[in-house]
Amino acid sequence: DVKTKVKWLGTPISELKRMPQCGRTLPRLKDVPGQHTVMIRTDLLQHDKVPVPYPAKFVDTWDDVHVKKPFSSSNLFPVKDQETQERQNKSRWELIKKALSKKFTSPCELKNAILKYSASQAKKWDFTALELYCTKVLECDAAEHLFGSLLPDMVQLALRGSELCTKPIPLLKKGMNHSITMSQEQVACLLANAFFCTFPQRSSRKTPYHNYPDINFFRLFEGLSSKKIEKLKTLMCYFKSVTEQKPTGLVTFTRRSLDKPLNWKSSQIPLTKLHITCEGTIEDDGHGMLQVDFANRFVGGGVTSSGLVQEEIRFLINPELVASRLFTEALYHNECLIITGTEQYSKYTGYAQTYQWAGSHQDTTPRDGWQRRCTEIVAIDALHFRNFLEQFHPDKINRELNKAYCGFARPEERSQNLAAVATGNWGCGVFGGDARLKALLQMLAAAEAGRDVAYFTFGDSQLMTDVHNMHTFLSQRNISVGEVYDLLGRYYSTVCKSCLGRRPDVNLYSFIYQQVSSSHVPSDSNRGLARQ
Ligand code: AR6
Repeated sequence: DVKTKVKWLGTPISELKRMPQCGRTLPRLKDVPGQHTVMIRTDLLQHDKVPVPYPAKFVDTWDDVHVKKPFSSSNLFPVKDQETQERQNKSRWELIKKALSKKFTSPCELKNAILKYSASQAKKWDFTALELYCTKVLECDAAEHLFGSLLPDMVQLALRGSELCTKPIPLLKKGMNHSITMSQEQVACLLANAFFCTFPQRSSRKTPYHNYPDINFFRLFEGLSSKKIEKLKTLMCYFKSVTEQKPTGLVTFTRRSLDKPLNWKSSQIPLTKLHITCEGTIEDDGHGMLQVDFANRFVGGGVTSSGLVQEEIRFLINPELVASRLFTEALYHNECLIITGTEQYSKYTGYAQTYQWAGSHQDTTPRDGWQRRCTEIVAIDALHFRNFLEQFHPDKINRELNKAYCGFARPEERSQNLAAVATGNWGCGVFGGDARLKALLQMLAAAEAGRDVAYFTFGDSQLMTDVHNMHTFLSQRNISVGEVYDLLGRYYSTVCKSCLGRRPDVNLYSFIYQQVSSSHVPSDSNRGLARQ
């Protein structure tokens, strides 16, 4: 009977903590050199007012530790004088301004404008998807609006770069613990520049930025796939929204590393609460919780090219996330990126091949004391497993535990102020992980971080039942994080090692049930104390 079918198990979701209710009052927002770069006037920050950029005048930097801005006076290109054959450097920004300020009336003219200031490799760029979008997808009046209004507004926004993004933006490099807070308007300006592919040295992999995600959007415009069209619809919806009405909030990007790996074996912490459901999604039902982005080490993965799974979809519906690609170097094993305050601009249906833009979304998430939407997303990249057994190796288990813990732990906060983690099959789609193992690892990391878990199985009701049963079994026996960790190690050494590359004949959960049941004297009166 469909009506009585179980949709969720464990703790009711209403009992899990969410922001802003569970959080403490934020300290005053301030720029702290070496720790927190704040790109706006904090003294003028006001609800519903567009934040004022800081400093007032553009500080022009061009070095290895900051984003190279297209509007920097050092953004030059060489030209050869036809008569004298002399080489001369000219301002690329002047060229960009000239090319983009011309009115374009067709995708071809837009393409030509972009090619005017893009380096030679740009000649290979293909704009088929953009052409299809403009000519076959948009109705006549929508195309007119695009060329007559939206694109000119986006150009204006991009060209305001030196007026809006006046402060140098530090690159968030490997090993750095650093935050950047900027206004949604500044983010929009950076993204408009990304759309027009103006970021210097960022259109080829053979640059100092080979270890950074792509930021210029040229790959979004290529190819015939309908996925690209849906991506374009989603991103244009964002640009329409921010050009029609300036957003007034802030967004913070924080890169974090775990300074030393945890000693998992010695942990005596019990598991925290679990709500598990086969319905709903992280973004809809996990509002106010710490929402996990099933990331690539290059944050955003294939969002500006062909990827279209959990991470890319999130970056498309909350495009402010895409700005992180400008300054976030590839994440290392012990690192994560936390993004607070992004807004959802679009709705969608489907997933991957069936993904479709489903119209604009009005985000009503409350704002915090720093005028950020109470949406905290953490990018943690799982390992990509090509072989099933590999993931049970203690080294891999440690890596995934520490990665998740880095994402979930907030040592500066008390557990009572921490929202639950909203997650699901992290690393278990494209990255080939085992959902039962990953669910357990995430529960351990969340427990260690002092957070409850809301787990979305994305339609898998068997997984919901299995994980719930395991969680109940372990919690009822007061089995600690360290003991579960130990069981994982034993599973590897006794089951996985001897199965010579084949799938193990005893699965992890059966093994845990067997081991714990045979070592525990069942007793109702002293549950958990009778361990040997
Ligand atoms: N809410 C809850 N669960 C979801 C949602 C959602 N909105 N969307 C998907 N799932 P995948 P990975 C479930 O493959 O394996 C990207 O390209 C669904 O069961 O995106 O960590 C990144 O950039 C799905 O199968 O994550 C990386 O390159 C599962 O989550 C790579 O994919 C895993 O989603 C990461 O792959």
